[in-house]
Amino acid sequence: VIVFLNGRFVLEPEAVVSVFDRGFLYGDGLFETVRVHLGRPFRWPQHVERLQRGAEFLGIQLPGSPAELGRGAAGLIARNRMPEALLRVQLSRGVGPRGYSPRGADAPTLVMTLHPAPADSAAGLPRWTLSTASLRLPVGDALAMHKTCSKLPQILARAEADARGADEALLLNAAGELAEAAGSNLFWISAGRICTPPLSAGILPGITRAVVLELCTGFRWPVLEVIAGPGALRQAEAVFLTLSSWGIVEAVSLDGQPLRTSPQVARLRDAYQALMERECAGAS
Ligand SMILES: Cc1ncc(COP(=O)(O)O)c(C=O)c1O
Repeated sequence: VIVFLNGRFVLEPEAVVSVFDRGFLYGDGLFETVRVHLGRPFRWPQHVERLQRGAEFLGIQLPGSPAELGRGAAGLIARNRMPEALLRVQLSRGVGPRGYSPRGADAPTLVMTLHPAPADSAAGLPRWTLSTASLRLPVGDALAMHKTCSKLPQILARAEADARGADEALLLNAAGELAEAAGSNLFWISAGRICTPPLSAGILPGITRAVVLELCTGFRWPVLEVIAGPGALRQAEAVFLTLSSWGIVEAVSLDGQPLRTSPQVARLRDAYQALMERECAGAS
């Protein structure tokens, strides 16, 4: 496997980062996971923009322009001959003196790697089971807006879900409101409306979430960003999750109790796949 490391394409065994890298020491960095389809990263400008916003927030200088990043990603996909893949972009503040202060850490580390796409993400609608995590997310967390490398709440939530045999963890915030899932955004359908928690619930502004909101507008389906408790999911006509790697996934149970399902989710998924097809085939 060939890896992009600080502007160079190197073989994986040579792609090494310092033990003093702050991404390793403190999770002082950001990442993006992008679906590559037909050799092209889907919604690349949106992923780069989120990375840029996060880098600005953390005060990390993005090494290279968005165009240079794009050329790096394209080179990586071509060199590995992986037209269907997941592209991970990893940015850390790099090496600096010991301690939390970022002073003196001026050479960020930028890594891009390719991974196999989920095998059946291109097939039918995936269906996952959910379990509610005992750990709560802070309400209105400014950090939640960025895809930082500090993912301990999500890791603990997934470990708990794994232990219960569930596919994904549902996370509530400290106010007991629906927030998101460990690695995906949350939607449900109620009285024909497509509902999702607002960003102020303390969630990541997902790229796939934004695509789904766009698709709903296209369908003229009413959308509601709403604060709700977990009871809303039990009463919902359907519950689904959105994430770049899988796209749209229907949730079929919550804590062992079946959830209702709706053909509307499959319609959205079809529209999502068609959009990805069009944009990736048409992009230059
Ligand atoms: C906490 C969290 N929420 C939501 C998402 C989904 O975001 P996106 O659609 O940009 O992949 C992710 C993706 O990994 C995530 O980690």
